[in-house]
Amino acid sequence: MPIYLDNAATSFPKPPSVIEAVERTLRQNAANPGRGGHQLSLQAGRLVMECRETVARFFGVDDSSRIAFTANATEAINLGLFGLLLPGDRVVTTSMEHNAVVRPLRALNDQGVEVVRVMADLLGFVDPAAIREACIPGTRLLVMNHCSNVTGTLQAIEQIGPWCRQQGIIFMVDAAQSAGIFPIKVEEMAIDLLAVPGHKSLLGPPGTGFLYVRNGLNLRPLLYGGTGNFSQSATQPSEMPERLESGTLNTIGLAGLKAGVEFIEAVGLDLLRSHEQNLLRQLIDGLGSLDDVTLYGPLDSSSHGGALSFNIKNMDPSMLGFRLDREYGICCRVGLHCAPEVHGSIGTLPEGTVRLSPGYFNTSDDIEQTLTAIRAIISAEC
Ligand code: ALA
Repeated sequence: MPIYLDNAATSFPKPPSVIEAVERTLRQNAANPGRGGHQLSLQAGRLVMECRETVARFFGVDDSSRIAFTANATEAINLGLFGLLLPGDRVVTTSMEHNAVVRPLRALNDQGVEVVRVMADLLGFVDPAAIREACIPGTRLLVMNHCSNVTGTLQAIEQIGPWCRQQGIIFMVDAAQSAGIFPIKVEEMAIDLLAVPGHKSLLGPPGTGFLYVRNGLNLRPLLYGGTGNFSQSATQPSEMPERLESGTLNTIGLAGLKAGVEFIEAVGLDLLRSHEQNLLRQLIDGLGSLDDVTLYGPLDSSSHGGALSFNIKNMDPSMLGFRLDREYGICCRVGLHCAPEVHGSIGTLPEGTVRLSPGYFNTSDDIEQTLTAIRAIISAEC
């Protein structure tokens, strides 16, 4: 069995309870939720509602109808940005964003939305004071990621959200790399829009995710169509979550997502995080002791989650990734990780980095084997 260290791309393996929930739903309960009065449709609808309530509880959302399910975090981010922004609006963002934020903002910029970027430092931190300075009067939205998919840098969103709320600026967080690793409570952190994938650290299947939309914020849908209610009307309903959820939902995936979040609740986020932090510490210490290795991002694991990027002197990251995979059975991601602006910030353009991202099911032995493989490659090359 390969050693999987690409959990920042998607978590693998999934907990047995997630696999069982997916299989059970596919075998017994895969009718269309909200699209019929028969018992199987009602059961499927109940399952979707239970997933919505589980997710709402986990993220401190009082009203679960404010959770709109999407296929992934990218769709959730697009829904938030295109649903909110109009030509003439002003948006502040950072240089640490994934293309899931960069590209919609570029498209919106082409349509007349002003986009202002706050630069991160070399470790990937964005200074909250620089954000406050960039958010001049007239700013409608601040959108930023919580934790970088390249450097694992954790941003101080708990300081930024309450300030935005005071200023009347809408605060949107891309939690693709932090949800399920760090605690996120939308009310306490004053988050207005939260984009979350189901398939990363929430341990659900691919094809799941959601956007939380604060009460009182009305978005234009990305998709218009059947919602299972108000069928007589040619107009998209205004009620949440139907307003933002056209078309048949992914009941099977949502059954798995519910099981993933319940798994995290049963184990405890603290325990999951401390296991992941210990593995990261082991990686940072092991790689940091090698002369030819450059590590990126913060080396203090308390402000670092999920992913560790590094390079070896005079070695292309893609060559190292290839050799780790083919010669040692170690799966990692190399290159730009769909986040070229982050590599601009940390000075790793154009090749990018090698990224190792351990997850809950990795062991200390996996990390030791990875360090041994990297040492062997370095001594053979250098
Ligand atoms: N955004 C995911 C990654 O960083 C896919 O690999």
